[in-house]
Amino acid sequence: MRQVLSFTLEWRCNWKLAIENFCESYHVFKVHPKTVEPAWPTRTMDILPSGEGYNLHRRTPAPDADSIRLKNSYFKSLRNVDKGQYVNLACLFPAHAMSIKEGMVAWICPRPVDVDCTRVQVGCAMLDEDGQAHTEEAIAAIERRLTTFIGEDQAIVESVQRGLRSGALPNAHCTAWERPNRDFQRYLAHRILGTG
Ligand SMILES: [Fe+2]
Repeated sequence: MRQVLSFTLEWRCNWKLAIENFCESYHVFKVHPKTVEPAWPTRTMDILPSGEGYNLHRRTPAPDADSIRLKNSYFKSLRNVDKGQYVNLACLFPAHAMSIKEGMVAWICPRPVDVDCTRVQVGCAMLDEDGQAHTEEAIAAIERRLTTFIGEDQAIVESVQRGLRSGALPNAHCTAWERPNRDFQRYLAHRILGTG
């Protein structure tokens, strides 16, 4: 497996919001309705047992994901790596998240620049196919895909940051599907306050 691409973004948000975004997939149906949701639906998410310093969840391809991919160029580059496979998502606290499926690992590392600015490093490693390195065209397609859906995340997270700063957002309970975020908050409480 070799790293095929990496890039760095700057998000106007607190780094904890960025980590929370990448910890869970509950937001996918709302934030990525045309990019991720059609082939990897939110309804297929399973939250797996977590542990000290990490959490895990996974999604299963939609039954008709193959036909969706054929129609949707966004997914064409996945055809060789995800057929019938789960996508496993891991968050390693405090600053790493990764998406793992057969032949590919995409990783994200959000780190604080200041209280409302986060540097988000993104990378992708892939197995060679039949001993052949992936073509520049294939790698460029993957980069476009990552850039598109991470851009969708950036827009919503920066919007949440503006809402929090305004003080106008009401408090609300998390849903059961947001348990990975509770795991992260408990980790922070334990490390910072010795509780949680
Ligand atoms: Fe997202």
